[in-house]
Amino acid sequence: MAVDTAVRPTQTSTAPKAKPKKRRSSVGLKLLMAGTGLLLVLFLFAHMAGNLKIFVGGDAFDHYAHWLRDIGTPLLPHTWYLWIQRAVLTVAVLGHIAAAVILARRARLARPVRYAHRPKVQGSYAARTMRWGGVIILLFVIFHILDLTTGTVNPVGDARHPHANVVADFAPSRWYVTLFYTLAIVAVGFHLRHGIFSALRTLGQQSPRGERRARTIALALSLVLVVGYLSVPFAVTIGAIK
Ligand code: HEM
Repeated sequence: MAVDTAVRPTQTSTAPKAKPKKRRSSVGLKLLMAGTGLLLVLFLFAHMAGNLKIFVGGDAFDHYAHWLRDIGTPLLPHTWYLWIQRAVLTVAVLGHIAAAVILARRARLARPVRYAHRPKVQGSYAARTMRWGGVIILLFVIFHILDLTTGTVNPVGDARHPHANVVADFAPSRWYVTLFYTLAIVAVGFHLRHGIFSALRTLGQQSPRGERRARTIALALSLVLVVGYLSVPFAVTIGAIK
């Protein structure tokens, strides 16, 4: 990058070279966060689009879920695509978390003294909630897989009838499940708003106008996802989907 190669008047030829190297790898880690985050966001949009099929009808939703297992056939054997997707998503989640942990540790070490009071800079609230938001999302995904993929904690738990699983899941008597999903999806929304904004900034949108645009895009995409995801449990709870 131009910043690293520029010769500053105060620099001598014997200046230590470790700092620019570390800065470069931090950029690499931010790119890793942005790249893995983008992959996860793409999955979230595709998954939301699939979930919205439930408004077309129970058969359409079940058909979609069965089709997921046949993507790539006959080139790939039955369910192979799904397993490849699961492997890619798992690697992306692990890479995303590892990069976040290393970057957070670096930021802490770069600070000579701990802040007595956190500075009230714009966006610091969102940045602090990222860690806990991420933990909530991870716990939610584990519960969600046990609920709607394996059916272990679902009242119906029949892999051949995902529509029946979803309807049983968000029945009015199971309001606490709907509440948990709502909290988790709102956490996803906050996480995405800050994540998409940071990613767009990492990729170069650093002028005040670019930042404003990045903020608007991040908010709009997050709102679409939150509303799209929440529409399913709420439609079941109020009886619009049976
Ligand atoms: C209310 C909203 C949601 C509904 C109704 C829903 C529904 C479903 C259903 C029915 C399945 C099973 C698909 C199948 O095996 O045929 C599933 C799987 C899954 N969902 Fe969701 N989902 C929701 C929100 C989310 C969110 C917010 C995330 C991520 C943060 C997520 C991540 C996943 C993952 C990782 C799987 C496993 C996919 C696989 O089997 O490989 N879901 N979901």
